Amino acid sequence: MVNQQFVEIDHVQIYSAHRPDVSPEIAQMSVNFLREKFDGDLDIAVDVGCGSGQSSVILAPFFRLVYGLDVSEAQIQEAVKNRAHSNIHYRLQEAESLPFETCSVQLVSACGSLHWFNLETFFREVKRILVPGGVLIVYTYHSLRPYLECSLKKKKIDSLYDQIYEELYPYWPKEVHSSLEKYENVQFPFEEFRRIPDVRQFFNGRFIDLIGFVESLSAFQIMKKSDISKADNFIKQFGLGLRELLEVPDEQDREMIKLYRDFYCIMCRKEYKLG
Ligand SMILES: C[S@@+](CC[C@H](N)C(=O)[O-])C[C@H]1O[C@@H](n2cnc3c(N)ncnc32)[C@H](O)[C@@H]1O
Repeated sequence: MVNQQFVEIDHVQIYSAHRPDVSPEIAQMSVNFLREKFDGDLDIAVDVGCGSGQSSVILAPFFRLVYGLDVSEAQIQEAVKNRAHSNIHYRLQEAESLPFETCSVQLVSACGSLHWFNLETFFREVKRILVPGGVLIVYTYHSLRPYLECSLKKKKIDSLYDQIYEELYPYWPKEVHSSLEKYENVQFPFEEFRRIPDVRQFFNGRFIDLIGFVESLSAFQIMKKSDISKADNFIKQFGLGLRELLEVPDEQDREMIKLYRDFYCIMCRKEYKLG
């Protein structure tokens, strides 16, 4: 069944505007892992479930060609509009059928998207297209938060986030549970795989990005569809609580503040056979 999330243009525009590009450290870490056993050219990387391109752009400096694939036409349009790059090709394409020759791709990545795929078919395709020694990197993240030095304030912010994630919990599509559980129950059919918890990314963002990030979550979008006044009230209360804790006056919504997010990564390698 075609994924019903990330198809509506207003959801995708919020997603594209308030989800920053992924940490370049993830790309560097993946290439280092690849290079442990592969010394050929870095010709092709494929980012599956690329959304509006945030996880594709980080691969561009390392590979001759990057393909960003997604089943959502709206996401692909946003990627082309906002994250175009001379060596990235965005394509409307499902994860279960990867249009690449056997043993032709050095790296496949899936950021925040694996849980939406038919895993058996996806893994089969990944193993087919990867060169021997090629790698699959799967990673995910769940929140974007303000970074505060003061431990008391940090505790208050964390408890505000705990509260809103608890309220959102019943609205997550069942597929997302696997991501929330950091793919602990997924069997990765690769001989070598490595879990890398907590790759932290710091960056500057705006107060409105913190609100927009929560609005971009599929759980929030589902809450909005089922009860629009509940969703409006939820986001309003979150905004008020956050504004008070961060002491951000209305007119400073666009000023830069220090934000962070934590990625959870899994790196897998296709068997390397000599001769
Ligand atoms: C949470 S978004 C992640 C987007 C992007 N990788 C990022 O880091 O922001 C998940 C994406 O997976 C896409 N997706 C879901 N099922 C898919 C499938 N079977 N094949 C390809 N893409 C899929 C959705 O359309 C959505 O854009």
